[in-house]
Amino acid sequence: MGTIYDVLKEEHDQISDLLRQALQDGSKVSFFKIKLKADPHMMGEEKFFYPVLEEVEELRELISEAYKEHNDAKTLIFEMEGMEERDEEWASKLSQLKQSIDHHIEEEESKVFEKAVNFLSQEKAEELAKQYIEFKRSYMNRIETGEPVV
Ligand SMILES: [Fe+2]
Ligand SMILES: [Fe+2]
Repeated sequence: MGTIYDVLKEEHDQISDLLRQALQDGSKVSFFKIKLKADPHMMGEEKFFYPVLEEVEELRELISEAYKEHNDAKTLIFEMEGMEERDEEWASKLSQLKQSIDHHIEEEESKVFEKAVNFLSQEKAEELAKQYIEFKRSYMNRIETGEPVV
């Protein structure tokens, strides 16, 4: 059974690939692929992973930073949803989004995960993976059936 770190890292790699792809083709279709991965990823982290880490004094500061970075990404995603590829600002927003998410992933893996392993047991890390995967599954089902996701 994998841990929450394995699951999240795998998705980080997928999101990084999609960001590279989007920057290459500049399309709104590619942007939506990022959104479809990044929305539930951030939501799942905020629902299951961050709350557990926030209980650890040594991690509190890092997690509050992580929430801010999520909010930056969410704001950019929201703005871009209302834009068209041909808009003047599209390319710069896309590169801002890439920078912002790349930075966050880097911080999460090199700082948050690195520290979290010292405080979360293997069992807890596996249990969080299960919860996250289950959440993700129901989120994607809702997307497919058009039900509200929150
Ligand atoms: Fe993440
Ligand atoms: Fe995150």
